[in-house]
Amino acid sequence: MQTLLDKSLSSFARTDLLQGPTPIQQAERLEQLLGLKAQGVGLFLKRDDHMLIGGGGNKLRKLEFHIGAALASGVDTVITIGGLQSNHARLTAAVCARLGIACELILTRSVPKAEVDYELNGNVLLDQLFGAEMSVFPAGTDSLAKAELRAAQLRDAGRNVMVLPTGGSTPLGSLGYARCAVEIAQQETQLGVTFNQVVVPNGSAGTHAGLAAGFQLLDRGTSIVKSYSVLSDRDSSAARTVQLTQNALALLGSSAIVQADEITIDGSQLGDGYGLPTLAMQDAVRLMARAEGLLIDPVYSGKAFAGLLADLRQGRFRSGDNVLFVMTGGTPGLYAYRETFQA
Ligand SMILES: Cc1ncc(COP(=O)(O)O)c(C=O)c1O
Repeated sequence: MQTLLDKSLSSFARTDLLQGPTPIQQAERLEQLLGLKAQGVGLFLKRDDHMLIGGGGNKLRKLEFHIGAALASGVDTVITIGGLQSNHARLTAAVCARLGIACELILTRSVPKAEVDYELNGNVLLDQLFGAEMSVFPAGTDSLAKAELRAAQLRDAGRNVMVLPTGGSTPLGSLGYARCAVEIAQQETQLGVTFNQVVVPNGSAGTHAGLAAGFQLLDRGTSIVKSYSVLSDRDSSAARTVQLTQNALALLGSSAIVQADEITIDGSQLGDGYGLPTLAMQDAVRLMARAEGLLIDPVYSGKAFAGLLADLRQGRFRSGDNVLFVMTGGTPGLYAYRETFQA
């Protein structure tokens, strides 16, 4: 059945980068190891790390809408910004390569890490393979201003340029995750399962905001989504997420008002800051690898899964509950953090 949300979403230009839904798998070994089976709690994984372009990851869902708009207006060059190991930058580079659009990346050394693998491996290596032009600046650089300046130069030279902000997390980009909410609801019907909580990492907030807006318009409420902030403290993440959810809803034609207490964000996993490893993250990445044979990244999903593990171990769910953990990709980041896992 086509929902009103489907209808609103289909009024936006979108380039199909996913080619179908990503799978949902039950994490049966984790359920067993964590004693969830005995408690009657189900743990499921939404495989948004499992996509067909550029190594996959959550940014492709946002890029479907951004690149849709870019193609509709004849853009020939995309400039985006991010940290040195940005997954969004890598996936923007991959999509641009595939569509024959020039791509420039303005990256900042926002994480105080200087290991050779952090500088040259992981997403940095892939950005180069995808043929993006890269400029790297020190922490604290106003990269959006740099991007706008570069865009102005290119426009003067006759190019049609689009600038994408951090993480592609505009209201338009977050529609990718409103669309994902529809996909999850359809998969619930197919699987015969209802999820009580959908868990994601929160960086630039577009993933949380898009899902929250989507579930709100599916009459499931925004608080079904829980995120763990990995970029900034809980309160800053919450303010950004409330605003972006509100703006995404407005873009979808809804006048619903988002209350701050309906957006659920946990700040316990940030540790010393963005991109800095925590012991809980390392344990979570190892557990996922050894129990399920699956990879999660050290910056986003690793910290979010650490938070979910803490909740599961503290018995925060009740018998009959089903939890969906969204694996958001970013696994090339593991190669940038070699010394964290091999030390
Ligand atoms: C792998 C991965 N997971 C999660 C996130 C967080 O998503 P968002 O920026 O939409 O909060 C990002 C991007 O920042 C990411 O690259």
